[in-house]
Amino acid sequence: MITKTLGNSDTRVSAIGQGMGLGGYSSSSGTYGDLIPVIRAGVDAGLTFIDTAPAYGEGESERIVGRAIGPIRNNVTLGTKVSPADTTADGVVRSAEDSLGRLRTDVIDLFQIHWSNPTVPIEDTMAGMERLIQQGKIRHVGVSNYSVNELKAARQALASVPIASLQVEYNLFDRSIEDTMLPYCIENDITVFAYSPLHRGRVTSGKRQIETLERIAADHDCTTAQVALSWLVSQRSVVAIPNTSRQERVLENAAAGELHLSEVEQDEISRVCSLQQQEIPTDQIRPASEDSRAAFRTLQEALDNTIGSTPSPRQLAEQIKAGDFLKPVRLMPVPGVENEYEVLEGRLRYWAWVIAFDGKKPITALVDDPS
Ligand SMILES: NC(=O)c1ccc[n+]([C@@H]2O[C@H](COP(=O)([O-])OP(=O)(O)OC[C@H]3O[C@@H](n4cnc5c(N)ncnc54)[C@H](OP(=O)(O)O)[C@@H]3O)[C@@H](O)[C@H]2O)c1
Repeated sequence: MITKTLGNSDTRVSAIGQGMGLGGYSSSSGTYGDLIPVIRAGVDAGLTFIDTAPAYGEGESERIVGRAIGPIRNNVTLGTKVSPADTTADGVVRSAEDSLGRLRTDVIDLFQIHWSNPTVPIEDTMAGMERLIQQGKIRHVGVSNYSVNELKAARQALASVPIASLQVEYNLFDRSIEDTMLPYCIENDITVFAYSPLHRGRVTSGKRQIETLERIAADHDCTTAQVALSWLVSQRSVVAIPNTSRQERVLENAAAGELHLSEVEQDEISRVCSLQQQEIPTDQIRPASEDSRAAFRTLQEALDNTIGSTPSPRQLAEQIKAGDFLKPVRLMPVPGVENEYEVLEGRLRYWAWVIAFDGKKPITALVDDPS
């Protein structure tokens, strides 16, 4: 397995790791306990970076990771996160201590802010991070789902340690970080952890892209998922953290670390899977399907923040109005209905956008092609 430097530190992480999103963040896993042998097999096969968070399965992901890595803790680089509701200095410290308990370890290698919280000054959050570093409870500081502006502010707020990493969505369908975010990270020695690297199991989107990946996969006697992972980690500073509940797939994902695509193949994949952003009028979008839990169904619910989201849609709207582009929402055409879309990902951003521009400005979207 190839390894990459974490930030500008001496720590190296496996270029492909294991994402441990559970409970709505992840795969079709039946019983979470069944994941323990999968995690261990992944570590044995070289997937030694593990990413978890208190938000995944309300702490269950961290508990399972803790049980899985107990005997092999020294072979693992462990990343977890702090939820936005806990980002005061004291909250950050408390959250890390709770995670240490669930993870059954005495140090977290990479402690990341899961999303920003605009109601807490970043200096306050980072003071908590620095306290944790001084206490030896965490080794490195990372952030997730930050805009470039937030990343700059976070770097400035940290007096004595650098930001080692940024975790963001990056896959062959959503390449929106390539314009400014990825170059900024490369320039500033910030490792990019690519979440949803397999486009949540769909690998990429559209017939032509899949056909290209299938042809390249056949030439290498491997799978399209392996081609996608190999392409991602061939990008400088990028580490992929796929999630799987299956032993055979954890081995498959690890083997992708040994795959070498030629420059010609990499270029062809880049060309065929280019970013296809569209501007979609917000009134053509159905933000919540009947069965979606914990979602705003109406503008009033979003304005009232009925599900207690942090940040709230209003707060995010202010950020958008101040010029902070977050990332495109992901849509799926409603079958048989022209110009109508369902939100697959980004409901909060959708409502924030509607609030920011009074429903009058089309939103930047990636439209999944189910063909
Ligand atoms: N920071 C954040 O806000 C954030 C947000 C989302 C995710 N994440 C992190 O990123 C990790 C991965 O993201 P994700 O779960 O959204 O998406 P993903 O890794 O792109 O996709 C996971 C899906 O792909 C399937 N899969 C795994 N390996 C495969 C293979 N070799 N071939 C075909 N299908 C395969 C899995 O199904 P099976 O289980 O059936 O194999 C699962 O349904 C999460 O676990 C989490 O750690 C972070």
